[in-house]
Amino acid sequence: MKTLVIIAHPNLEVSRVNRRWTEELLQYPNDITIHELYKEYPDWSIDVPGEQQRLEAYDHIIFQFPLYWYSYPPLLKKWFDDVFTYGWAYGSTGDKLKGKRLGLAMTIGDKQESYLPEGPVSFTVDQVTAPFKASTRHVGAAALPYFAVFGASFQASDEDINQSAREYIHYIFKYQQ
Ligand SMILES: Cc1cc2nc3c(=O)[nH]c(=O)nc-3n(C[C@H](O)[C@H](O)[C@H](O)COP(=O)(O)O)c2cc1C
Repeated sequence: MKTLVIIAHPNLEVSRVNRRWTEELLQYPNDITIHELYKEYPDWSIDVPGEQQRLEAYDHIIFQFPLYWYSYPPLLKKWFDDVFTYGWAYGSTGDKLKGKRLGLAMTIGDKQESYLPEGPVSFTVDQVTAPFKASTRHVGAAALPYFAVFGASFQASDEDINQSAREYIHYIFKYQQ
């Protein structure tokens, strides 16, 4: 397996975009491993050694989630807090993520034009995702350019979403090696 996709959606059954993306990922079982956090941990009790072992097996790791309050859904934030431990991810002996390529694949409710300094959000997605890039740097990994679909709440048509699913696969394969 070449790419690990960690999916964090609180209710994938009623999701429109993350569900469609996940169906697309499932078409590539020899190249992509899916790990659904909300399905794996309904009680939010994360198996830290298991998660760390899984991460160690991959050099290319994507975090897929809907943007919630300009951030991660809460179980993914907890996952980072629990799994990126001192002595494993950082600190003098914490080198297990060093050199890995980490990326974000986000579904974003608002439209793209909103994510401009002069738009209603007033920050770009690159600015919004600064904590991820800082964390990636902290653990010695490389942050890949993000992948996103905008207008995921209402504007995006079924065809837009299908198109984004195909582009998502291209994005994954582009950075797989
Ligand atoms: C709790 C919550 C917070 C949200 N916060 C944002 C936000 O900060 N920015 C934004 O553009 N969309 C926001 N949205 C819209 C989601 O990003 C959008 O519903 C999701 O990406 C759609 O993907 P899905 O069909 O897979 O659920 C929010 C939605 C919820 C439920």
